[in-house]
Amino acid sequence: MAIPKDIRINLPPEGIPKKWYNLAADIGHLEPPLNPGTMKPAEPTDFEAIFCKEIIRQEASTERFIDIPEEVRDNLVYLNRPAPLQRAYRLEKYLKTPAKIYYKREDMGPLGSHKGNTALAQAYYNAEAGIHTLTTETGAGQWGTALAMVSNLFDINCTVFMVRGSYEQKPMRKTLMQTYGATVYASPSPQTEFGKKVLKEHPETTGSLGIAISEACEMAAKDPNIAYSLGSVLNHVMLHQTVIGIETIEQMKIGEIKPDYMIACAGGGSNFGGFIFPMLGEKIKGKTDCKFIAAESKAAPSLTEGEFKYDFGDTAGFTPLLMMYTLGQEFIPKGIHAGGLRYHGMAPLVSAAMDKGLITAQAYDQIETFETGVAFARTEGLVPAPESCHAVKAAVDLALECKRTKEEKTIVFCMSGHGMLDLYGYGQYLDGTMQDSSA
Ligand SMILES: Cc1ncc(COP(=O)(O)O)c(C=O)c1O
Repeated sequence: MAIPKDIRINLPPEGIPKKWYNLAADIGHLEPPLNPGTMKPAEPTDFEAIFCKEIIRQEASTERFIDIPEEVRDNLVYLNRPAPLQRAYRLEKYLKTPAKIYYKREDMGPLGSHKGNTALAQAYYNAEAGIHTLTTETGAGQWGTALAMVSNLFDINCTVFMVRGSYEQKPMRKTLMQTYGATVYASPSPQTEFGKKVLKEHPETTGSLGIAISEACEMAAKDPNIAYSLGSVLNHVMLHQTVIGIETIEQMKIGEIKPDYMIACAGGGSNFGGFIFPMLGEKIKGKTDCKFIAAESKAAPSLTEGEFKYDFGDTAGFTPLLMMYTLGQEFIPKGIHAGGLRYHGMAPLVSAAMDKGLITAQAYDQIETFETGVAFARTEGLVPAPESCHAVKAAVDLALECKRTKEEKTIVFCMSGHGMLDLYGYGQYLDGTMQDSSA
């Protein structure tokens, strides 16, 4: 049998997008972030203690397209961009589905996830602004790994507050970040006032992304040469991640693929937003009927069970108030393996899309997602990250529905990362000791 043309659709290095796409230009009214002191819309100066000027400008921008600096594009090549779009023929065969399943391979670069796309841009702008150290949080470790690696490219130091649960479960992640030169603390940590307070009140806590964000912000706010870098949630992060969706549209044109569904997992919303926003822009213009599904964790179901309201992005309340789907700033999710999905809120842009009925969401428990991850590994050969398993699960469920209804739908999902450093989780699934967050 000849190799099918759509088994893997590649773009040449020049296919790296030249501009990011900003959904804020097309989505209509957005509630602005608020200064919690005045309850008035936040001013750029409210962000200056932790972010550099260009990042703040992008955060508030409503320009539809924003140029990607040459130096960022040059370095995206080393992160294996453009990333292939691949057809999951063997998974389709195993499921006996008439559906066509494609996945965008964010797992294939040296960092193993989509997180480098924004890490690179943020490190670049901060280096240009003369910042010598970036602080950040990390849940699963993928974001910390990405920022640790790219900080080297721009001669910046990187300090990572890693959620304690993941720090203990994934020592290899810590080693990887240290290999890239980062300083890594388990959060909550004694390095910050907020960390000390949480440790005193909850000495046994496994931590959360909200707490780790507070610690990283606190450290950055104390020194003008230190800035904070966020791996998800904010508008500029969504913007940088749109290289995923812009490439995917190009690849779908080449492969004559007309998606009925685009799916991605959603923690803070960055791979989901980056993957679907360019196509959502097309949908808003009436150019496609594609449906968009965010796959989240039942341990932190912000879109499916949260409230759409103003809330802090972190636990301590250092950030401006963001209008988003949230479970509450103090919500501490159960310790699941998909650490990147353990966040109380959802990106304001993703939340606005949900509120306007432009996307839907589905929540999954941990065992069912690992079950699908194992099926994917056994058919396609790639072990998905525990976060990405949520997207695989949503895609597989739809493909099985197509089998029942005998419909030949096209499903395209984002494989946000690989799970080669998450084998402890797979081990628990395989030996039957894994627990659901609802158990
Ligand atoms: C592989 C992977 N996918 C998804 C996520 C969730 O983040 P986001 O919703 O910002 O894409 C993470 C976060 O750590 C991740 O590492």
